[in-house]
Amino acid sequence: MSLLFEPFTIQGMTLKNRLVRSATQENTASLGGVPTDDARRLYRRLARGGAGLIVTGHAYVNRAGQAALLQNGAHTDAAVAAWRPIIEAVHEHGARIAMQIAHGGRQAQSHSLGRRALAPSAVPNFVEFSWPRSMTEGEIEQTVQDFGAAAGRVKAAGFDAVQIHAAHGYLIAGFLSPLTNRRRDGWGGDPERRFRFLAEVYRAVRREVGPTFPVLCKLNLKDFFFGGLSPRESFLAAHRLAEMGLDALEISGGIYETGLHTTRGDPFMPLAREQKNPLKRLLLEVALRLEAPRTGFEEAYFLPYAVELKASLPIPLILVGGIRRPEVAEAILEAGHADLISMSRPLIREPGLPNRWLAGNREPAQCVSCNQCLRAPMLGGRLQCYWKGTKPA
Ligand SMILES: Cc1cc2nc3c(=O)[nH]c(=O)nc-3n(C[C@H](O)[C@H](O)[C@H](O)COP(=O)(O)O)c2cc1C
Repeated sequence: MSLLFEPFTIQGMTLKNRLVRSATQENTASLGGVPTDDARRLYRRLARGGAGLIVTGHAYVNRAGQAALLQNGAHTDAAVAAWRPIIEAVHEHGARIAMQIAHGGRQAQSHSLGRRALAPSAVPNFVEFSWPRSMTEGEIEQTVQDFGAAAGRVKAAGFDAVQIHAAHGYLIAGFLSPLTNRRRDGWGGDPERRFRFLAEVYRAVRREVGPTFPVLCKLNLKDFFFGGLSPRESFLAAHRLAEMGLDALEISGGIYETGLHTTRGDPFMPLAREQKNPLKRLLLEVALRLEAPRTGFEEAYFLPYAVELKASLPIPLILVGGIRRPEVAEAILEAGHADLISMSRPLIREPGLPNRWLAGNREPAQCVSCNQCLRAPMLGGRLQCYWKGTKPA
C-alpha cells in the first residue's frame, strides 16, 4: 500500500490519506463573502475526488482585509456558518476540511474593491499599481482580534481545522518581510518584531479555539525579491510557531510581485494584456517576461527548503508546489522530508486525482502548469481550469 494513502493524524484530526488540497481562491462567494451554489459544487467535487484534507481558499477576517470581490468571508458568523452544508458533504466522503483565514494587506485589490489597502508600511504594490496605507497600532491590534474571532467562527461552524495564511505577501507575510515591513515601532525593525504580528495572531487564534482544535499555518519561506524575507528569518519563525503549539506547517514562497515563484510554470500574460492603461500593460509585460526564465516549471520546487527545515522541525510539515507524480510524492514521504503532500492546480484540473491514483491509474496529474487558472486570484475570474490544449507527450 502506498504511503500516500496511509492515514495521518494532526492534533486528533485523522486524515484518510496524505493528500491535501492546498488553499485555492475560488471566487465563488457572494459580495457578502457567503459561499454560493458554485462553492457547494466545487467542494462536493473535491470531496468526492479523494483528498484527505481540503483547505478552502483564503477568507478575509474583516472587511478591510478583503483581497478580492468574490472572495470568501470569515468576518461574520453568517458567512462562516453558511459553510455547514459544504462541511457535511465533505464529511460524507470521509474527507476533512479546514478554512484558511487571511487579511489581504498590501495585496488587497483596492481598485476593484474601491478602498485603500492596509499594510504594515506604505510600500507600493507593483502589480496593482496601488499605494497602501500604513496601519495604526489600533488597527493592528483590532486585526489580531479579528483573526481570533474568525477562528472561533471556523470552529463553531464545524470545520475540522483552521489555517492561518502567512504566505504569498498578504498581511501576515507582509509583516514578516523586511521588504514590506519598514516599521520602527513594536511591530517591525528586527526579525523578532516582524514576527510579532504572526505570534499575536497565533495566540489570538489558539485562545479562541482552545488547545485541542487543529491550528495550521501556511508560511512564506522566501519572498524571492531583493531585500525580502529569507529562509534565515522564516525558519526561525517556523520553529517559534512549533514551540508555541502550532499543529502543522505548510511551506511556500513568493509575493504578488514574484508570484511566478509561488506557482511556477508559464507566465500569466493576461495580467499584462488585459490592462487598460498602456503603461501598466507594458510594465507588467516586461516584468513577466524578465521573471519567466527563472520560474519555469520544476517538480516539487519547494522540496529543498522542506529537506532543510524538516530535519529540525518538531511538527508535521506539509509540502506544496509542483507535485505532479505519485512516485515523487511517495519518495518525499518515504524520505521523511514532509508528512503531507499538498496540491492546488492539479486538483483544479482533476478534482478526482487522489482517487485516480488510489485506483491504480498512476499517470501524472494532467495539469500542465499553464497558470491560466490565475485568472481567479489575479483578474477576478471564476476558479476553473482554462487549459484548452492537449497535454504534451
Ligand atoms: C488559482 C489559484 C488560487 C490560489 N489561491 C490561494 C489561496 O487562497 N491561499 C493560498 O495559500 N494559496 C493559494 N494559491 C497557491 C496554491 O495553494 C499553491 O501554493 C500553489 O498553486 C503551488 O502548488 P501547485 O503546484 O500544487 O499548484 C493559489 C493558487 C492558484 C493557482
